[in-house]
Amino acid sequence: MLRSFEWRGDKLAILDQTRLPGEEIWLELSRPEEVAEAIKKMRVRGAPLIGVVAAFGLALAALGSGARTPDGLLADVREAAELLKSTRPTAVNLFWAIDRVMGVLGKAAERGAGVDELRRLAVEEAVRIADEDIQMNRRIGMHGEKLVPDGATVMTHCNAGALATAGYGTALGVIRAAVEAGKSIRVIATETRPLLQGARLTAYELLKDGIPVMLITDNMVGYVMSKGMVDLVVVGADRIVRDGVFNKIGTYTIAVLAREHGIPFYVAAPSSTLDLSRSSRDVVVEERDPEEVTHVGPVRIAPEGVEVFNPAFDFTPMRYVTAIITEDGVFKPEELIAYYSQSRTEGPR
Ligand code: MRU
Repeated sequence: MLRSFEWRGDKLAILDQTRLPGEEIWLELSRPEEVAEAIKKMRVRGAPLIGVVAAFGLALAALGSGARTPDGLLADVREAAELLKSTRPTAVNLFWAIDRVMGVLGKAAERGAGVDELRRLAVEEAVRIADEDIQMNRRIGMHGEKLVPDGATVMTHCNAGALATAGYGTALGVIRAAVEAGKSIRVIATETRPLLQGARLTAYELLKDGIPVMLITDNMVGYVMSKGMVDLVVVGADRIVRDGVFNKIGTYTIAVLAREHGIPFYVAAPSSTLDLSRSSRDVVVEERDPEEVTHVGPVRIAPEGVEVFNPAFDFTPMRYVTAIITEDGVFKPEELIAYYSQSRTEGPR
């Protein structure tokens, strides 16, 4: 299975996803500014992965800080946290991971930890976040594969695979687990304009694993569904709020079409993607460079001067979601909210 990053003790190596599938180029990052650039330019992308690499960005800030006092070190890490948080606004995992590392460091400083201990704790917490992400994805796969019948064709959008996470994937984790359970599965991947994560990354990742995949353009979804070619849809998520799911632009269209054709629409995501105290009104949808729409790769396809709208995500109301698969099980939307508000009051799971 493809690796998306590697922690090398004092450096973070990332697979540059902007170069895939043509070239597998690994970049070594040693400063939080480089991590922020990699997230912003989408060299690393996918909600869980940007959380993981941001946590390592804080570890790099702690390791690289010349501060001699805990307060000085915390100030340096806090500055890196602000920078990393400013990279991409929609996926909640970024904020979740940064707050988690900052929380650990803050508590340790309060009980009198010195600078060396704070540096060690920052690295350990980032490693833990990455390890837990893989474990959560495997559990998502274990729960989700039960929803996938033998012989099924599964449609997925964007890339919610090993490349979007610390490993194994969320939506692709469900598909991987179904294949590992001995089922014969085919995948239909949508190309995912404008940045083509489906064509460039999902197709690449599945082919590498020998999982049969067929690529379609985004505007073929309705036709393909109307022909009875899709048994279920599984997508990932960037942020799940009380009233629905933010995911890659185009997800909403697929969900509405799935409803029209009576096809189950599942969302697979770890609990680090849940933001159930918020609703869709509270979330900023990232708008990206118009050039992503006017160009395909380096080639301009639209006339100079045309107005462009380029939101990176859309919102799918819960009424279109059949169920949400997390590491804790499979939940109907109303069950998800009940389960996680209850589990929060009962303490850590
Ligand atoms: O803009 P991207 O490529 O970071 O968007 C990624 C997605 O929308 C994924 O579907 C989502 O993050 C789930 S990844 C497990």
